[in-house]
Amino acid sequence: MLTVVNHPLAKVHVTALRDASLGPERFRHHLLQLSRIMAYPVFSHLATAKVEVFTPLGVVAEGHGLTSQAVLVPILRAGLGMVEGFIDLIPGMVVSHLGMYRDETTLIPQRYYSNFPKRCQQWPVFVLDPMLATGGSAVDAIDYLKGEGASQVVLVSVIAAQPGIERVFLRHPEVPIYTAAVDEKLNSDGYILPGLGDAGDRLFGTII
Ligand code: PRP
Ligand code: URA
Repeated sequence: MLTVVNHPLAKVHVTALRDASLGPERFRHHLLQLSRIMAYPVFSHLATAKVEVFTPLGVVAEGHGLTSQAVLVPILRAGLGMVEGFIDLIPGMVVSHLGMYRDETTLIPQRYYSNFPKRCQQWPVFVLDPMLATGGSAVDAIDYLKGEGASQVVLVSVIAAQPGIERVFLRHPEVPIYTAAVDEKLNSDGYILPGLGDAGDRLFGTII
């Protein structure tokens, strides 16, 4: 299932991120604000169970507690810019970094770091990567996580290109995708059009 987060403020932040004149500081700011807005719909299907608490009036109030912890999997580098928007919303959140870059010529993702803890296999896993372009990186990340035993994976992007969405659903049809914008196509170098450019470079100021 594809969910496009259509909150007006999400649209404003995506527009700001697309603006080529935005420097790294403001890029980080808008990506963080957008991540905060997206976190609530992304977490809206978390399972809860009934709990009871004593209020200061000495009576019991019935309420809800989360039934499990959760795992964030930011894909390096650009996914790092989304972590702060999600991390404090769930107690005991685990952050399992996944290092990956696209080979510039073949566009094939190269994995260079991973550390998914086995004890998290039954927890919901949220993959964070602002850009879903060809879908190669997302598919490889989900393949890896499933291979490590992850049972529920959700993909969170900021801009998702149509070919990338189709590729993820073809291989992992049950994985929900959340995004703030759907762009139609890619250029011949595999960049999303209109997109926002290279998210990692814009976030960290490494533009040549
Ligand atoms: C970007 C982006 C995704 C990937 C998307 O990372 O953050 O991980 O490209 O492209 P795909 O859908 O075609 O696989 P990049 O390889 O530029 O690495 P970086 O974040 O370290 O710059
Ligand atoms: N990776 C990016 O950072 N941007 C794109 O447009 C495509 C892949």
